[in-house]
Amino acid sequence: MFFSPVVGLLLASLVPTVVSQQDMATAQQTLIGTWSSGSQHVVTGPGFANPVNMSFTYPSTTGISYSFTSDMFYEIARYRFNSNGSEPTCITGVIGWSHGKYQFNPNGSMTLFPFTDGFQQIQDPCAAVSNFIEDYRVTMELYQQWAIFVDPQAGPKLHLFQFDGSPLAPQFKVSNTPNMLPTQVLRNVSNTDSSDSSTTSSSVQRRSASGAVGNNWSARAIPAGVSGLVAVAFASLLL
Ligand SMILES: *[C@@H]1O[C@H](CO)[C@@H](O)[C@H](O)[C@H]1NC(C)=O
Ligand SMILES: *[C@@H]1O[C@H](CO)[C@@H](O)[C@H](O)[C@H]1NC(C)=O
Ligand SMILES: *[C@@H]1O[C@H](CO)[C@@H](O)[C@H](O)[C@H]1NC(C)=O
Ligand SMILES: *[C@@H]1O[C@H](CO)[C@@H](O)[C@H](O)[C@H]1NC(C)=O
Ligand SMILES: *[C@@H]1O[C@H](CO)[C@@H](O)[C@H](O)[C@H]1NC(C)=O
Repeated sequence: MFFSPVVGLLLASLVPTVVSQQDMATAQQTLIGTWSSGSQHVVTGPGFANPVNMSFTYPSTTGISYSFTSDMFYEIARYRFNSNGSEPTCITGVIGWSHGKYQFNPNGSMTLFPFTDGFQQIQDPCAAVSNFIEDYRVTMELYQQWAIFVDPQAGPKLHLFQFDGSPLAPQFKVSNTPNMLPTQVLRNVSNTDSSDSSTTSSSVQRRSASGAVGNNWSARAIPAGVSGLVAVAFASLLL
């Protein structure tokens, strides 16, 4: 049940290596802590986002970071650039923070339930509004599969697969103690009903309603530091 075709493909690619996958019970223990992709400049906690004034401290490189507590709270920090094929000069930057509660599902998936206080900043040099901050209006995030592989050199490596099966960049563990902001609602969000649009936020709401940016955090490039075999597996998944 846990070995979906997606994870099975990874395992098949990994057979000749010494990397091993943890069983579910062990993986649920290993999950507790803070994880970060790539060069590990994106890390959850107070160094990334300040919900009180909805500000970010921009990391020096893009990436994602997830933290999990044993009492089922999580936090996510994400920073990426989107390029637009038809407008190559229009590179959009998206940085986002959210936290909430998570649960393990019987079929091996994981569901996150964000609090209302998440937010993201979008910088789009070609848009009418080139820089704006908006609420993260997502009530649930489903990860169809997740798995932890143990690399003898780099330690545990977390693989998350989004609701559509697309993989996120693998993350290495940066701390066994979760590095997180307080696990409670940290700012009051007025007007959480998106149908009730105010004049000041209408452009933001129109943009997020289009779904053009915001909620697809698929790995677009293979970050440095991933073993060749995993990179091959991910490359074939992305085709
Ligand atoms: C937000 O608050 C922090 C901490 O008080 C401060 O360092 C930062 O400059 C503020 N940012 C903005 C955009 O107001
Ligand atoms: C790419 O740019 C075109 C032209 O500006 C725009 O219509 C389209 O929505 C953009 N695509 C994305 C994904 O932002
Ligand atoms: C696994 O369970 C979750 C939660 O019940 C559900 O949303 C998801 O669709 C299930 N996935 C599959 C592949 O059945
Ligand atoms: C939200 O607003 C209520 C009522 O004004 C206030 O008591 C509470 O402290 C606020 N919460 C935060 C996180 O600012
Ligand atoms: C997310 O982005 C990836 C890579 O560009 C793409 O393959 C996938 O279809 C996207 N998923 C959704 C739901 O847009």
